Amino acid sequence: MQSHTPVVEFNFARQGEIFEQELQIIRRFAAWVDTLGPLDQAGPEVRLQVLAAVRSLARVFKGSGEKASMQDYGRRVLHHAPGSWSLAVITLQPGQKTEPHDHSGWGCAATVQGIERNRRFVRGSRGSLYLISERDYLPGNGYYFHENEIHQPEGADPRQLTVALHFLTEAPAGSQSQAEAGRE
Ligand SMILES: [Fe+2]
Repeated sequence: MQSHTPVVEFNFARQGEIFEQELQIIRRFAAWVDTLGPLDQAGPEVRLQVLAAVRSLARVFKGSGEKASMQDYGRRVLHHAPGSWSLAVITLQPGQKTEPHDHSGWGCAATVQGIERNRRFVRGSRGSLYLISERDYLPGNGYYFHENEIHQPEGADPRQLTVALHFLTEAPAGSQSQAEAGRE
C-alpha cells in the first residue's frame, strides 16, 4: 500500500479569523482524505463520499474574501498532496469560463458562492467537441467527474463572483500524468 505524506501548501492570502477558520477546516478535511488510501484506486463509494465532504466544506467556506481576475479565472491552492490530491478555490467572474479540459484523475467540485455552470463534452472521431450536458450548481451543490471526462466550468451568476472548491486526484509520483498537477 502506497503511503503519501501530505504536504500542506497554504496561500497566506487571508488574515485573521477567516484564515484561522479556513486552516482548521482544511486540516480536518485533509486528515480525513488521507485515511482513504490510494485515491487513484478508489471505488465509487469513496468517490461519492469525497463529493459529499467537498459539498459540506463548501457550505462552511467563506467566499467573500476571494480575489478575482478579469483576465483569467482564479485558482488558489488550499492543499496539495503531491501524487495524491489537491483542493483549490476557483473563482469565476460572471460569464468567465475555463477552456474545455479533462484531468487524468477523477475529481469533484462544489459551489461556495454564486453559481457554477458545468458543461460536459465528448470528443468526436474528428476531434470536435460535442456538448452532452450543462447544469448549474448553487451554493452547497456540486458534481463529480471521471478520469478523462471533458468539462468546462463557467461563472453563471450575473450578479457576483462565483467561488467553488475543486478537488482533483493525481496519479502517484513518477507516473506521466503527475505533470498535470496545478492545472484546473
Ligand atoms: Fe477541471
